[in-house]
Amino acid sequence: MELLIIASILSVTTLAIPFPKDLQPISTAGPEDSCLFPSFQGLVSDNDTQHLGLDFQHMIRINRMLYIAARDHVFAVNLSASVNQIVPQQRLTWKSKDVAKCTVRGKNTDECYNYIKVLVPRNDETLFACGTNAFNPTCRNYRLSSLEQVGAELVGQARCPFESRQANVGIFASGHFYSATMSDFQASDAVIYRSLGGEGSPVLRSVKYDSKWLREPRFLHAIEYSSYVYFFFSEIAVEYTTLGKVVYSRVARVCKNDSGGSARVLERYWTSFLKARLNCSVPGDSFFYFDVLQSVSSIIQINQRPAVVGVFTTQMNSIPGSAVCGFYMDEIERVFQGRFKEQKGTDSAWSSVPEEQVPTPRPGSCAGDGSASAFSSSAQFPDSMLSFIKAHPLMDESVSSINDQPFLTQTTSSYKLTQIVVDTVAGPYNNRTVIFLGSEDGHVLKVLMSSDPNLSYSTTMLEDIHVYNPSSCTGDRRVLGLELDKEHHALFVAFSSCIIRVPLSRCAKHGNCKSRCLYSRDPYCIWLRTGSCADISPGFKAGFEQDIDGEQPQLSDICNVDVISEEERPNSEIDSAFG
Ligand SMILES: *[C@@H]1O[C@H](CO)[C@@H](O)[C@H](O)[C@H]1NC(C)=O
Ligand SMILES: *[C@@H]1O[C@H](CO)[C@@H](O)[C@H](O)[C@H]1NC(C)=O
Repeated sequence: MELLIIASILSVTTLAIPFPKDLQPISTAGPEDSCLFPSFQGLVSDNDTQHLGLDFQHMIRINRMLYIAARDHVFAVNLSASVNQIVPQQRLTWKSKDVAKCTVRGKNTDECYNYIKVLVPRNDETLFACGTNAFNPTCRNYRLSSLEQVGAELVGQARCPFESRQANVGIFASGHFYSATMSDFQASDAVIYRSLGGEGSPVLRSVKYDSKWLREPRFLHAIEYSSYVYFFFSEIAVEYTTLGKVVYSRVARVCKNDSGGSARVLERYWTSFLKARLNCSVPGDSFFYFDVLQSVSSIIQINQRPAVVGVFTTQMNSIPGSAVCGFYMDEIERVFQGRFKEQKGTDSAWSSVPEEQVPTPRPGSCAGDGSASAFSSSAQFPDSMLSFIKAHPLMDESVSSINDQPFLTQTTSSYKLTQIVVDTVAGPYNNRTVIFLGSEDGHVLKVLMSSDPNLSYSTTMLEDIHVYNPSSCTGDRRVLGLELDKEHHALFVAFSSCIIRVPLSRCAKHGNCKSRCLYSRDPYCIWLRTGSCADISPGFKAGFEQDIDGEQPQLSDICNVDVISEEERPNSEIDSAFG
């Protein structure tokens, strides 16, 4: 109560524009629902799993299979056979042979296992996997169909971290493996690295121990898009010189045809590495920033423009708050075409580089493209250009979010959001966008994005799903991964100790009350002519009703008001609508 009063005084006296309120869910799926969701805890017959649990690291869907990478194992789950239970049809076990050496090193013995941190398709037949291998990172190729190892082991350094806790990303693009990880035992050398391109293709990396390039980064995602590979991460802001360490979120870009610099400058280093701050903030008299990126979607279309959507939180030592922001890819490109940032002296503030001091071809260009179209290789770039980009990887402007504000914010929960996955083809006509958000406390929020006439977006919280289930999971409740299986109407939610399969909707809960079914606003729910509320199934296109953008229901529309119990009542607004 006291807090509420303080909050309302604050909002009256200090903020001209009120801070956005947290959305309230229309519907809640509690433990009575989630206890029915199928779950997977790893190999129960494995002694290590009994002691340490699954230790989920990463999951990826390839065609009809879901691959789950954990400690010492990768599990392959056939999605068609996993509707009522999650049972892996195939499994690869890859334990470290270096355990003795590892324990001698004196580090935490929980790390003396093989945590599989990279699991990516290399081509149609091959899966590429890397593990920490008891502080001796190693990579292997596996046949996708049988999970048999193909060829010899490879060194995993700069492709895979040494420890399970370190975040890393890896993807194949145009035959090269791009990785972003800590590349040493002490975890002091952060690298964005390209390798495995074959003969004549140099291995490239980011400049070592240069805080302008990377400073204590946490790598989150990599995306291949047009001529570039993009990296999303958070890091200590080098341009924030006031006091203390502050984390900013970044998008960085490298050219896929980068072949390193000249023999004098940037040989075997990126010649095209640029990065910019992602601005996810609530505008007002003063901006409120959500600066710590937690998770990013793949590229989706928003207003017919390619975009990504990310979850951001406040700083680690701050009051918890989370926000979801979208960024158009063309806006990211525009910032990379803009001003560069620089610091004149070690203690002076950062400012933008005057345009006349920027060399040509423009730093960050790909050979053969735009102002660098006369160059067939980045190795031919003039030293002036190479020296400039080596010293100026940071853009001056930050990337504004779509509509210059978050799609949603959450500031009253004491738990932050951690994961995001987007379904851009939801609903019977495949034209609705639904975002799923995982949280630190084991919930998944299901949010509808609705386009309104002026091409901005509004959001509706459809469901708050309590996914973490203490009878099948142990320990940490943080959602570590989300993967959609649209074909089977499911979302896989990963925790450290378990994977849970959550149906995308629970429409039957609305029973034969038409107005509750329609008012759920859920694109996955349809009201059937036969008089029941049902989950949509693929291909179902006629003979039903939905009212996703409808008005709030009137009291007279709601059947069996008594059926709506106290805790199911969505929020006070609805209460008043009920009279
Ligand atoms: C698993 O634990 C049991 C009982 O502690 C032991 O007998 C068995 O040898 C262990 N198996 C392995 C593979 O370590
Ligand atoms: C989705 O498609 C249906 C059928 O074509 C159409 O009636 C509806 O207006 C569309 N909705 C949106 C949000 O585009």
